[in-house]
Amino acid sequence: MIYAPTGAGVVEKAAIRSHYDLATPFYRLLWGPHIHHGLWSEEDAARPVPLVSPHAAQEQLTDTLASLGGIAAGDRVLDVGCGMGGSSIRLARRFGCRVTGITISGVQQRWATLAARWAGVGDRVEIRRADAEAVDFPAGGFDVIWSVECTEHLFDKEAFFRRAGAWLRPGGRMAICAWLASADADRPGPRGEVEAVCEAFLCPSLGTFADYRGWMEGAGLEVVCTEDWTDRVARTWELCDARVKRLGLRRVAGFIDRRQADFLGHFGTLLGAYRSGAMAYGAIVACRKS
Ligand SMILES: C[S@@+](CC[C@H](N)C(=O)[O-])C[C@H]1O[C@@H](n2cnc3c(N)ncnc32)[C@H](O)[C@@H]1O
Repeated sequence: MIYAPTGAGVVEKAAIRSHYDLATPFYRLLWGPHIHHGLWSEEDAARPVPLVSPHAAQEQLTDTLASLGGIAAGDRVLDVGCGMGGSSIRLARRFGCRVTGITISGVQQRWATLAARWAGVGDRVEIRRADAEAVDFPAGGFDVIWSVECTEHLFDKEAFFRRAGAWLRPGGRMAICAWLASADADRPGPRGEVEAVCEAFLCPSLGTFADYRGWMEGAGLEVVCTEDWTDRVARTWELCDARVKRLGLRRVAGFIDRRQADFLGHFGTLLGAYRSGAMAYGAIVACRKS
């Protein structure tokens, strides 16, 4: 695991909350209702301009994870770090899942609640403002724990997985997508790249595939699938960077909050870490043992 550097740009929970409160409208403008990478086929990702649009690629990521996670009609799903409700709404609409979404951001809680009503699934999606590291749910209360690009922001990831594992019924599944440190990121060059991403993107640490496997197994889960999607998602940041420039978003963000404007200037840092191999992007599915 690689930790964010301590000191000047220290990552704090209040800063994560405030980032999502302030930046959510920018995410919507820039990237649509999902705040996560797009997933292209290997062939499409290699084209100068992918055939599949960024929005469709984001839905492709959600749908691929849903398929790996064996999401079934009527599943009770906990969506940890639900953003604007992109996944929660899609799972409710496509599979008739009953979804509880949690987000640390009050703005996102209200946004996602309205979006679910607007999408006609307000009766199946409940969004709460809650800290995943403090909230508790009844043991065995969910069929699926779903989390796309949220665990990066957690301070004690091992403790979260231990608690979350207990919220699954026996046989229930955990389906996660996460930004990862690569297995050999513990050398000075790659370490510096991962630390820079941690600091810029408010991640207290980034785990490796092996870390996630260890946390899940420690929580009584069996890892059934790990997929490395790095090359299929990396285009996201080129496309985002082009949109930021075209829309002049960095200037607009600068009027609101300096840190949000700096954030928009760091997409190349993340893309560089994917390209150098310092970071990876992975999907991991695990099943709670009976
Ligand atoms: C990159 S966004 C992903 C959002 C959503 N999963 C999606 O794919 O559109 C990260 C999300 O994690 C949430 N988050 C970060 N730290 C959290 C915490 N401690 N508890 C709950 N949510 C948290 C943020 O509010 C945000 O919604």
